[in-house]
Amino acid sequence: MRSITVELGERSYPIVIGSGLLGGGFDLSAQVSGPDCLVVTNETVEPLYLEALLADLAGKQVGAISLPDGEVYKTLETVEDILDTLVEGGANRDTTLVALGGGVVGDITGFAAACYMRGVNFIQVPTTLLAQVDSSVGGKTGVNHVSGKNLIGAFHQPRAVLIDTDTLKTLPDRELKAGLAEVIKYGAIVDADFFAWLEDNIEALVGRDAAALAVAIQRSCELKAAIVAEDERESGRRAILNFGHTFGHAIERCQGYGDWLHGEAVAAGMVMAARLSGGDGASAERLGKLLERAGLPVRPPAIAANDLLAAMGMDKKVQKKQLRFVLLRTLGDAIVTSSYDAARLDDVLEAAS
Ligand code: NAD
Ligand code: GLY
Repeated sequence: MRSITVELGERSYPIVIGSGLLGGGFDLSAQVSGPDCLVVTNETVEPLYLEALLADLAGKQVGAISLPDGEVYKTLETVEDILDTLVEGGANRDTTLVALGGGVVGDITGFAAACYMRGVNFIQVPTTLLAQVDSSVGGKTGVNHVSGKNLIGAFHQPRAVLIDTDTLKTLPDRELKAGLAEVIKYGAIVDADFFAWLEDNIEALVGRDAAALAVAIQRSCELKAAIVAEDERESGRRAILNFGHTFGHAIERCQGYGDWLHGEAVAAGMVMAARLSGGDGASAERLGKLLERAGLPVRPPAIAANDLLAAMGMDKKVQKKQLRFVLLRTLGDAIVTSSYDAARLDDVLEAAS
């Protein structure tokens, strides 16, 4: 078992990573300060892990709510359902919410915790690779609006993150690979040595080697924890975590959400951002090769350049200059900048069409 601390003063919290933590390997009750808690999960994860989690909460008064599965349910209506359950169950400010599931369950539960009685404690128990290396850490919570993803939300840090790496055994291959895109992202933006390690170990990761996955999860969490500690509310450096996301979100929007997974769109978006970064192209090539070996797409589906630009939230002529991108100075060293080569952006977008 390994523990990493997200250093945020009084709101610091542990990320505990290990195998066999659920169902007796970790005293989760000790992380629940009050007498009661509500576990929020979904209909896919519930039959797999809820029973084990409930056993770990012995001694507490525990309720559970199971949401329908899917990004489409990441809405205010679902948050209302959770809030109704809390009110009906007599929950108070001492109640702790526990999110058991992927990023969708984690984001919804965190937001419900931020809202209920102006904020109650919550614990993340992430069960997808993406949630274990990214969404469960850092306190971004929220839901979608019909006009866009994650438009409604709050920063609300969890009290603890409990990562049982065994839960990845039941995760579909495609979801595992989508999570690997975010792991590769950390190497690309802040840690060249980790990137090289990923190049040496990518087949083991895709093949679900438990030791390799544990290293990748731990290093990803260490890197994210450090960035969040430095810039909790994304007023500066934290924005580098959005590497590949400007293009990735545009791909998702043009494709229709749900066709490509988020991590797949980010993979293609990272290669586009690396190409936009310029230089001799070596970083973009290495990044593309690694993503390809992880079974991820390295170019977007055929989309007209103007459609991609529009999806990036811009009118080509008027606002193009205002765009901000996360670019690579070199592998392992990213910056956020609005200074980029406009002609190269055209080339990157045209290459997609
Ligand atoms: P997800 O939560 O939809 O999970 C993917 C699928 O895997 C779902 O069908 C889920 O039920 C299933 N699943 C979960 N754990 C499983 C397991 N162990 N075994 C079998 N199936 C399992 O998707 P995700 O990729 O985990 O998260 C995506 C969401 O995360 C998006 O809504 C995105 O906006 C959000 N996100 C948030 C942050 C943040 O900082 N808060 C960062 C990145 C992404
Ligand atoms: N996933 C980006 C962030 O947490 O800032």
